[in-house]
Amino acid sequence: MASLFTFPNRILFGEGAISELRAEIAKLGIARPLVVTDRGLVASGLVSDVCKQLDNASLFDRVQPNPTEEDVLLGLDRYQNAKCDGIIGLGGGSPIDTAKAIRLLATHPGKLIDYDLTTGGVNKITADLPPMVAIPTTAGTGSEAGRGTLIQLPQNGRKTIALSPYLLPSLAICDPSLIVGLPPMLTAGTGMDAFTHCIESFLSPTYHPMCDGIALEGLKHLAKGLESSLTDGGNLNARRECMMGALLGGISFHKGLGVVHSLSHALGSEGRAHHGTLNAILLPHAIRFNRPAAEDRLTAIAYALGVGRGGDAVGHLLVLVDLLLGHLPLPRKLRDVNGLRHDQIGHYAVLAMQDHCRLTNPRPCSRGDMEEILDRAW
Ligand SMILES: [Fe+2]
Repeated sequence: MASLFTFPNRILFGEGAISELRAEIAKLGIARPLVVTDRGLVASGLVSDVCKQLDNASLFDRVQPNPTEEDVLLGLDRYQNAKCDGIIGLGGGSPIDTAKAIRLLATHPGKLIDYDLTTGGVNKITADLPPMVAIPTTAGTGSEAGRGTLIQLPQNGRKTIALSPYLLPSLAICDPSLIVGLPPMLTAGTGMDAFTHCIESFLSPTYHPMCDGIALEGLKHLAKGLESSLTDGGNLNARRECMMGALLGGISFHKGLGVVHSLSHALGSEGRAHHGTLNAILLPHAIRFNRPAAEDRLTAIAYALGVGRGGDAVGHLLVLVDLLLGHLPLPRKLRDVNGLRHDQIGHYAVLAMQDHCRLTNPRPCSRGDMEEILDRAW
């Protein structure tokens, strides 16, 4: 059977890359961009810094964490009323995913649920999309190099994904200087999202040797940069390592992810808990669950991170992950995350079973398994 490899998009990477924005949107033929972002970034001054390069830009700053279809429709309204002809997603995963969804509905009829991956939506998404630039301001999501947009829909109460190679942003501008001011909790949470992308995509059984190599390389960059980014937020070398690790993680998950993401999508649908923080809590429990089906792959991850040769490699990997998590300013248990309820574990497991990521987990995961992982992480 043939495999389809569709990546990556055009990526401008490095300190100062953001200064190319004006020239780059001109190359894309964008005269009236819609800038999609959130209010936190507006308050930080970053949005006005970036928008100084733009003439005739409209701003949509109503994106919430774990964005909903309502956010998308409000942004679409702004896009159409201002007669925009291109989109700039500026921020973490929520603004970039919202920008992708606005881009989709700008030229495709119907609602987001019509494009749901799990019901054949991929075949309805065409190349007829306005140009888009993704500018990440965190080092985690990888959405700047990803084909999907993850939005919470009112119809089914879960996060759902529209996915197509056409949804890859026309251009990603990854400038490490934009993440120098990222607070420690967000640095840690988004960094662990990227770390989890690399691990879960490497464990995915999808045949994609290119992504396998990219996932391991991403882990090395993150291991180099994450702790130094926390101890010295102004360390540009460390920030660059994290931004590259996140980008590589975003490319690697073209292979698909696993149960950590199915569970964190389910938990994130219920509240506003930070996606990367949930991943960080769940990751060691998912590694233990997957170990019987993925000993060789987990061993390769341990070796890539420089541990485990001549011993219990997966055991060493678990110790390494535990040490890393111990240095991060993140909760270690789900019970410490606001808005989650232990008596809802069964409901979270049902939502996780509906999530597409579990389909590429190396070990089949039943509803009961999902409940057990959640219980262990509580
Ligand atoms: Fe993620």
